[in-house]
Amino acid sequence: MNLRSRSFSNPFRPGAGHLPPYLAGREAEKQVFDRLLAQEVILENMALTGLRGVGKTVLLETLKPLAIERGWLWVGSDLSEVVSLREEHLAMRLCADLSIVTSSVSAPVEQPRPLGFGSCTETVERSLDYQALTDVYRQTPGLALDKIKAALEMAWRALAPTEARGIVFAYDEAQNLADHADKEQYPLSLLLDAFQSVQRKGIPLMLVLTGLPMLFPSLVASRTFSERMFRVVFLDRLSEDDSREAIQRPLANAQGAVRLSDATVDTIVKMSGGYPYFIQFICKEVYDAFIQRMDGGEDAVAPVSGIMQKLDANFFAGRWGRLTDRQRELMFVMASLDDSDEDFSVQDVVEKSRIILSKPFASSHVHQMLATLGDYGLVFKSGYGRYAFAIPLLADYIRRLRMDAMPARNA
Ligand SMILES: Nc1ncnc2c1ncn2[C@@H]1O[C@H](COP(=O)(O)OP(=O)(O)OP(=O)(O)O)[C@@H](O)[C@H]1O
Ligand SMILES: [Mg+2]
Repeated sequence: MNLRSRSFSNPFRPGAGHLPPYLAGREAEKQVFDRLLAQEVILENMALTGLRGVGKTVLLETLKPLAIERGWLWVGSDLSEVVSLREEHLAMRLCADLSIVTSSVSAPVEQPRPLGFGSCTETVERSLDYQALTDVYRQTPGLALDKIKAALEMAWRALAPTEARGIVFAYDEAQNLADHADKEQYPLSLLLDAFQSVQRKGIPLMLVLTGLPMLFPSLVASRTFSERMFRVVFLDRLSEDDSREAIQRPLANAQGAVRLSDATVDTIVKMSGGYPYFIQFICKEVYDAFIQRMDGGEDAVAPVSGIMQKLDANFFAGRWGRLTDRQRELMFVMASLDDSDEDFSVQDVVEKSRIILSKPFASSHVHQMLATLGDYGLVFKSGYGRYAFAIPLLADYIRRLRMDAMPARNA
């Protein structure tokens, strides 16, 4: 028994936001960010988009030290909880995030005076903590936009004399930000207007938003100037070489406890489609399996079908399970399109449904159902009347399923 290998813990990290043992590729994306950091006046901000599990969160984490090295301050948070429904919530979020870097500096802030002391406010030098920033927000007359601009500008005035080069505001899962015309709440517009306005004044506050691919269209729908305000970086699957690195580097660092043949590495690259989450998932399984097999002295062969089943059960089945039969039929039609890995039009889906279903879909129905599937995070709108799967390899999974319940036209 190879006892030595038992002491090595599995280096692979399949999990949302878990830093991988080795972050492969992404050099081009880091360079884009580096160039944005070099702007004298902020003309462009970053929108980092990509499918689920492609590595947006961990890349964002990796950009943070880069920004700090360049003299920038970094604040931000995860917008997965919908804090963003009301403008006031967004403003408080910005103040809370900003206070992390401003509470060490002070500025003259107008604040309510205790009762019986003449006029209702007085100006005092205060440390710019959350309370002070929200006081600036509340004491400033006008609309939410005037108030938030006042807080941002005050924060920068206090920080400008320090060494700080600027402040990066990094928001993950930013596709959750949206305007709500029905409730007369426009938090996304507020964010865009506020940053555009302070940036025009030469204040170096930069936005870095990450999210699913619908992020950019929704920014543009909210404010057309977003098209010019953001450099969109679409994070894609890793190249074959980078995928190999993502697999092999951690193994090399684990001092040879597990060695994979070239054929096994090729199999993992192929199975994962180069998608980082799948690489971590498959490698974790292969690593566990190989450690045991080597202990037993068996030849190490990747247990491909077992891993695939586990991936289906862990990653895809839950998402599939919540769909109605008709939604599944629609997904099956989409997965049957020749170029289902690319985006497709509603018309493509309607036509395909006429070929493969006994009860085809009408175009209006497809529009409606795709909107619901979009809310579930399964598809996204990639352009006018065009959609794509938001989850990598979902089409493959759907094709793998036996569509027993599917009433085929010629059946
Ligand atoms: N460049 C990379 N090299 C190797 N592994 C990576 C890389 N990028 C991400 N990963 C791994 O992929 C998985 C998913 O990463 P992450 O959570 O950052 O994706 P995401 O795009 O933010 O997903 P989601 O859309 O669900 O938020 C993690 O297990 C992470 O360790
Ligand atoms: Mg993420």
